[in-house]
Amino acid sequence: MSLMGFLDRIADVSAFDKAIEPARRAVQGLPSAVKDVLHGTWLGHPLHPVLVQVPVGSWVSAGLLDAVPRLRPAATVLIGTGVAASVPAALSGAADWSEQGSGVRRLGALHAVLNTAALGLYAGSLVARGQGRGTLGRVLAYSGLGLAGGSAAIGGHMSYAQSSGASHAATAVRALSTDWIDLGPLDDLPEGRPAMRTGKGSSMAVPLAVVRRGARVDVFVAACSHLSGPLDEGTVENVRGSDCLVCPWHGSAFALDNGEPRRGPAANPQEKLEVRMEAGRVKARVPSRHR
Ligand code: FES
Repeated sequence: MSLMGFLDRIADVSAFDKAIEPARRAVQGLPSAVKDVLHGTWLGHPLHPVLVQVPVGSWVSAGLLDAVPRLRPAATVLIGTGVAASVPAALSGAADWSEQGSGVRRLGALHAVLNTAALGLYAGSLVARGQGRGTLGRVLAYSGLGLAGGSAAIGGHMSYAQSSGASHAATAVRALSTDWIDLGPLDDLPEGRPAMRTGKGSSMAVPLAVVRRGARVDVFVAACSHLSGPLDEGTVENVRGSDCLVCPWHGSAFALDNGEPRRGPAANPQEKLEVRMEAGRVKARVPSRHR
């Protein structure tokens, strides 16, 4: 069995759920404004992969510097930097983790345990170095690097194989034909709430969420960028000063004007199509970046 197949086996173990659930509820209980900061909703990009660069980069660099005796004081500074930076990185990861599906949460729990163990080893390394026990400090640091590397591989599997943090809307929009899609007469669309229309794809039909406000029409891929929730079954609400399309699954809100997230857990924008009117009919097309 491949390593990735082994991780998929772990993601299937439902026995972990009972132990995981209290932590998940605790994170979900944070104020939504705090969670949105941690998700990266304000950035329009998941924050966790941005923040993890600091501890990972610091610790890898410290590992290299520790190999050169005269550079070891600099390694100690980098280890301390990584320890401090791991706290916001962990908090943003926990916020994302709490809103994922069960398989991602199980692997995410293992990722967190390994990261916590690595953090403990690095903290121990700092203490040992402070006491003048340099050899022990380096052993602890290299052990921490090994654990953090293994944990990073799990995080990569969560992102690339389980699509956590990826935009599910971007996947859906690529299935659409690049031609203009006829969505029917403007007058058939309800006012101020999403309606479902279907876009022609190269191999399958792609659901679209269409919102009419007077003569204006906004068209989005219906699969929510967070976890593919059906935005055509959502609502239109004013969220933080913007008229938004709100997902019925976890409440992410996307500005009707440009698809940017106004409320999480989504951090990626929602894919919005170009729109034009032709003889009273609505036509939409995927944006040029996907053509
Ligand atoms: S699927 Fe989670 S907010 Fe839409």
